[in-house]
This record gives sequence, C-alpha cells and structure tokens, in this order.
Amino acid sequence: FHGKLHHFVTIDSTQTRAIAEAQAGSEGGQVYVADEQTAGRGRGGHTWSSNPGTGLYVTVLARPNLRADDALTISFAAGLAAQAAIREVTGAEIDLRWPNDLVTPGPGSLKLGGILTESAMQTDGLLRYAAIGVGINLNHTVMPPELEAISTSLRRWTGKTVPREAVLIAFLRQLHLELLAVQESPAAVRQRFAEHSRWVWGKRVQVAEQDGYTGVTLGLTAAGLLRVRCDTGQVREVRHGGVREAL
Ligand code: BTN
Repeated sequence: FHGKLHHFVTIDSTQTRAIAEAQAGSEGGQVYVADEQTAGRGRGGHTWSSNPGTGLYVTVLARPNLRADDALTISFAAGLAAQAAIREVTGAEIDLRWPNDLVTPGPGSLKLGGILTESAMQTDGLLRYAAIGVGINLNHTVMPPELEAISTSLRRWTGKTVPREAVLIAFLRQLHLELLAVQESPAAVRQRFAEHSRWVWGKRVQVAEQDGYTGVTLGLTAAGLLRVRCDTGQVREVRHGGVREAL
C-alpha cells in the first residue's frame, strides 16, 4: 500500500479512526494498527476484545474503483489474505467461515479472528471508501471466559508463539494482491473463496436468522450470499444471519 502505516499503542478502535480519516478526505492505502483497542468493534454491534500484545488489530483504508455491491467480495478477499498470511508465517491452514470469520478447521471450529468491512457509497454507486478491519487472536494463552467455548488463539491451537509483525506484513502484502484481484474479477475472488472455505459446499449448518433453520450449504450466489438447502427441501439464501456448525 502506498499510504502510511499509523501505529497506536492504544486507541478506541482502528476501524473508527480509519472511517473518520476517510470522511476527512484521507487517501486510500493508509494502514491503522494498534497494540490495544479500548472500544474494538465486531460485526453485528458486538465488541471486539482487544487486549494489549495478544492480538493483531488492523484496519486498511481502501478506495478501490469498485461498485458498492462488491463490499462483500472485499471481505472475502481480506479473509483469503489472512488465511494466506497465517499459512506463510505459521504453516497452519485455517478455515474461512462464511462470510467473515477465521476459524480452526472443524469439526468443533473455534474462532481465531474476524473481519469487519465498512464502506460508503457515492451517488454513482461506486465505493467512496472501504475500511477493512481484521482482528486475529495470536498469542492469547487464555481467552476471556465468555469466549472460551467458541474461540481460541493461534498460539493455543498451534502450540507456538506467533510473531505479530510478520503476520501484519504478510497480511498487508496478500491483501494488496487480493484487492488487485477483486478489481480484475470479483467473481473469480468469490470462486476462490468458495475453494478455500470448507463452509461453502456440503457443510451442515445452523442459520441464526429470525426463524432459525438447519440445512446443507450449496455454494454462493452471484452476489456472494450463502445458499442452503433446508431440511424441509427448500433452498434459501443467507443474508445477515451467521452460520454455525450443526450436528
Ligand atoms: C468480527 O468477527 O465480528 C469482526 C471483528 C473485527 C475486529 C477488528 S480489530 C481491528 C478493527 N478495529 C475494530 O474496532 N474492529 C476491527
């Protein structure tokens, strides 16, 4: 990225900062990274626990020449970039849980990290900016008690300490390549996401939408939504709800 790397010892949220800078006219390519966040944000209005030293907390401000509908594909690109960076630095192969989670390969997948992409659209339907936020649990030896049952860290999973700077540098390099790939062909990136995630095809899932249902995944729609064949036989598209492994 051609922008600056902005490092904070402590900040409310790299995501909030990147968006404020975007609105104030900052160029794309800026990287915001913090050792600690006091108000880290996750998807769906959740907080993102961000203790000092244990995790990677980074937001990349991009101003890609893409349509606002491509925001989900940008998130897939960030997931692929994180997966490749973790493979490169640790040798471990993590899984991507549609749409935006970094997880240990199942059964019994545990969350290792997540992606939050927040974007704004111009009147012509193109993206004004995309703030691509990634949190990865690197070296936690214990997880916060309320997350213990659903999450873990790379250190706990692989048994090795993970160098944060190496993951950051590998991630930024991979994300740069992935964003070029999205510019080239969003459909090809969605296809690659489907190939690198064990959740997109033939996975039995529980969908947490209003009426909650279980079924088997059947690939992605052209827009990147997850298709699920419900136990009733009906095929549905998952929009907002998260998916969990079903037994
Ligand atoms: C999720 O799984 O809900 C997404 C979590 C995203 C967390 C990252 S940490 C860096 C950036 N700053 C934030 O406040 N959130 C994102």
